[in-house]
Amino acid sequence: MAKLRNLISIHDLDRKMIDHILDTAAKMESVAVKRSKELDSKIMAVLFFEPSTRTRLSFESAMLRLGGSVLGFAEAGTSSAGGKGETLADTIRTVERYSDIIVMRHSLDGSARVAAEFSSIPIVNAGSGSEEHPTQALLDLYSIKKMKGKIDGLSISLCGDLKYGRTVHSLGMGLSHYDVSIRLAAPPSLRMKPTIIRAMKKAGVDVVEVESVEDAIKDADVVYMTRIQKERFPDVREYNKVKGLFRITSDEIKLMKEDTTILHPLPRVDELDSAIDNTPQAKYFDQVYNGVILRMAILKLILG
Ligand code: NCD
Repeated sequence: MAKLRNLISIHDLDRKMIDHILDTAAKMESVAVKRSKELDSKIMAVLFFEPSTRTRLSFESAMLRLGGSVLGFAEAGTSSAGGKGETLADTIRTVERYSDIIVMRHSLDGSARVAAEFSSIPIVNAGSGSEEHPTQALLDLYSIKKMKGKIDGLSISLCGDLKYGRTVHSLGMGLSHYDVSIRLAAPPSLRMKPTIIRAMKKAGVDVVEVESVEDAIKDADVVYMTRIQKERFPDVREYNKVKGLFRITSDEIKLMKEDTTILHPLPRVDELDSAIDNTPQAKYFDQVYNGVILRMAILKLILG
């Protein structure tokens, strides 16, 4: 097995590597509870140029559970990159001298790849623009495998903002290594990019686009809901046209199989009504914990 050096894009991983990461994550379940000192000599820097709750804190929790240390910033405004106009290259050339691995979130597509070009230490992409979020995709795959016992053979629906949502871009590509059927449900202005649909089809996945949440949830094994990414719309009027259109409420739950699993990368706005949080289908807060487990696996595979 080739060693994992950086984690920039889901496109860089083949099925063998994805399965290896998911298997390593399964082994982390007990380590997460007991804690370990495996990475006690290692320092992880978190550079978050965009807001985050789960991704940053779960990476930090993962590193602390493995005995490592953490430094960084959660808001670019407090760094020289945000406040003084320092380039990304110079920021990376500085932080690599303070740490052993850099976990970075940035608003620009391609930012993680650029960071990796300048870095002598591993870079992990914690979300780049609207393009990619590979560790979220891996934790989503891990959640599906853990909750459903398998990935192959499942009917999976990706719903919501498929245009600006980076999680669904990475997850769609990750799922394309498996024998799954995928339904894509988005408002017409927020459909998945044709390049990603073509890549999924080329990989042999049965992909169909449907027009409504109802069409997406019927008989689905997994429904992956996403937030409309307001901050990425060039014009707020376009956002206002689509906000609140795609929602799962108690009415939609009635149309689902009892064993459908609803996932969401979070944060949610109104696309998952809080009235459904205690239904057997709602698994998005269990999914949150899998972020710690999966990120422990990533840190161990890169630094261990
Ligand atoms: C997502 C993100 O940042 O892309 N959040 C996350 O990492 N869990 C999804 C979102 O912001 O809607």
